[in-house]
Amino acid sequence: MSPFLLTRTLPEDATEAALRADVLQGLTATRKTLPPKWFYDAHGSELFERITELPEYYPTRAEREILVDRSGEIAAATGARTLIELGSGSSEKTRHLLDALAGLHTYVPVDVSESALTLAGQALVAERAGLNVHALIADFTAALTLPGTPGPRLVAFLGGTIGNLLPGERAAFLASVRALLTPGDALLLGTDLVKDEEVLVAAYDDAAGVTAAFNKNVLSVVNRELGADFRADAFEHVALWDAGHEWIEMRLRSRAAQTVKVPALDLAVDFAAGEELRTEVSAKFRKEGVRAELAAAGLDLAHWWTDAAGRFALSLSVAR
Ligand code: AVJ
Repeated sequence: MSPFLLTRTLPEDATEAALRADVLQGLTATRKTLPPKWFYDAHGSELFERITELPEYYPTRAEREILVDRSGEIAAATGARTLIELGSGSSEKTRHLLDALAGLHTYVPVDVSESALTLAGQALVAERAGLNVHALIADFTAALTLPGTPGPRLVAFLGGTIGNLLPGERAAFLASVRALLTPGDALLLGTDLVKDEEVLVAAYDDAAGVTAAFNKNVLSVVNRELGADFRADAFEHVALWDAGHEWIEMRLRSRAAQTVKVPALDLAVDFAAGEELRTEVSAKFRKEGVRAELAAAGLDLAHWWTDAAGRFALSLSVAR
């Protein structure tokens, strides 16, 4: 096998078709929604990188702290020969794991962004003699087929991105991850934890307004891709804590009554003054809840590590 391979499992036009379906469904529903995956065009990815450096946005720093402290233990506990990373992006935090996994044979980064995969993959094979990188362009929320790779396997899903899925979607996602594994293989999962409302809300409504710009960027994506005429300044960024569901919601609140046209869908969408469009759910977790969700998918919680301040957790679970 050549040290760097890139496999496309998504048809070139799948993204466009999925965006159309999501926008049609989300903007014609009684309670309007857009899925958070559409934040991440080139500009949105750049804004997210800036979010990770904001003083209010602690999850990235907290998770990095755990990876720095615990990568040796993760390597010892798994003995992984294959590391599969879902939503790998720039693979930046993964470097700590790659350094620690002494017996690693193949790294499989999985992402919808071909440019991120190529950039990160080429750099890794250049730096690490003997490491095979088989990048997959894929949507990890859909069924995945992996290349043949040696076990033990470790699947990593970092950043707390599992929190973007609703409970039913999380159960389906964890079951699909379990289906990739053989008994004894492991999942390393990053989950942001329940904490004081003020800390949580500030992380999603920063003083510099970067998260507000990130939230509104989904409107630019729909404008560019589907010819819509959303005006960013006609909406207000909203971040709120839903204590019942234990999740943060980001919304865009229409400042006035307005009609938005989406020509590619032959659609005109009416917004009442104050009407809100939900753009993201970011669920926060507790140890016993994570344990139960993993167990329901056939994964037994083996390790639970948090940062020193107890804000974020990495769990290591093993396929039954
Ligand atoms: C990348 C999904 C983990 O939910 O915290 C950051 C995205 N949204 N600020 C999160 C996000 C608003 C982030 N994840």
